[in-house]
Amino acid sequence: MKIKRGIILHNQFSEGSESIFINSGVIHHTQQLHENVNFNGIVFKPNFEKDAYLPKRDWRKLSVEEIKILQSNKKRNDSNTICLGEIPDDLKKLYQNLKLSDCNNRDEIFAKFRENEKTTIELNTSMANFLMTLSNNKPFKIHFLGSNFPNLEVVACDTTILPKGYTEKDMKFLGIHNDGTQYVSTYKLHKSGNRLTINLGNQDRYFFFINITLTQVLNMLKEKISIKEHEIDITNIAKYFFKYFPDYPVIKIKQKPYQYYIAPTDNCFHDGSTLGNTALDMIIVYFGAFQF
Ligand SMILES: [Fe+2]
Repeated sequence: MKIKRGIILHNQFSEGSESIFINSGVIHHTQQLHENVNFNGIVFKPNFEKDAYLPKRDWRKLSVEEIKILQSNKKRNDSNTICLGEIPDDLKKLYQNLKLSDCNNRDEIFAKFRENEKTTIELNTSMANFLMTLSNNKPFKIHFLGSNFPNLEVVACDTTILPKGYTEKDMKFLGIHNDGTQYVSTYKLHKSGNRLTINLGNQDRYFFFINITLTQVLNMLKEKISIKEHEIDITNIAKYFFKYFPDYPVIKIKQKPYQYYIAPTDNCFHDGSTLGNTALDMIIVYFGAFQF
């Protein structure tokens, strides 16, 4: 299936389109071979939610036509665009001072911030200055500082339903999904803002997305089934889309250390990936309505 014009890509990576790949769609998790995860003495095969779909692994470079379909323009905004960039050098140096690459888990990451109080204070100021340049005078806030195991095909999981003291072995991965915890009408998702995610680890990581908005998804589904009868909303829309359009391509972005992406994650299907990695994945995520 060919990609449609939908979510656009505002790419400020110095390597240009070298970091962008496309495939031929998704596959149900039961149909995919799963790698063992083996990190820091913990070995397991990932578990998935019942309706989890994963990207097929037939990645290739984009054609000239596909690059054009994703091309950003002046109509870009916080709900229709994925922005790729790199954090400023002063911020990068401060993060490097923390030596996060020594960390093997989330607690160790937090300890690094506590042990380096001066750097942490400087980081807060520099980070706020940087985010201010993107915020368009709208409020933003930190959402998450955390980690993922290496070699996970998809990383998102609803940790709020896991027991206290859970480990990676207990996690059930969602597969490619849309965010949003509270019910919002699919038609109001363009007001949900976006998220900025920085790679703080020392290996490349990946961001998957499907380049159409959930309104476009709903319109495509309407041609196949009754939205009313199937009670399609933001909680089950991914399941129906992947069932009826498994051949719609996924876009994969390679995100090097200290590069960031900004994405309207309530308004499009997406996930992160650490497949092939050997070190702990570390990210910091901010909520806002970032403009670029
Ligand atoms: Fe997500």
